[in-house]
Amino acid sequence: MSIQQDTEFDLGPESSFTKFPKLISLGEEHFYLVTGKKGYLLLATICPHQGGTVSNEGKAFMCRDHGWRFEHTQGECVNGPRARMFSFPVTVRDGHLIADFA
Ligand code: FES
Repeated sequence: MSIQQDTEFDLGPESSFTKFPKLISLGEEHFYLVTGKKGYLLLATICPHQGGTVSNEGKAFMCRDHGWRFEHTQGECVNGPRARMFSFPVTVRDGHLIADFA
């Protein structure tokens, strides 16, 4: 499965997410659900540099291909060029987290 544009996904009840970042799999695609000042976001595990895999290394996300690291609330790169992990908004609707891929 691949994420289609104009697609929303119900990630489940907000109350079921208590620890962040939370790895979320939607079909064959993987994301980290994070929360910060701007609310919830899904951050794609595909590196914005050259498409490596971004993993959670405890205090930050990291892509081992070239060592870019990203902070946990919005996926901002912290040791390289001005870059961010690909992100998708998540809203709360009727107590559920809804990811928006529009
Ligand atoms: S592909 Fe991720 S740092 Fe280069």
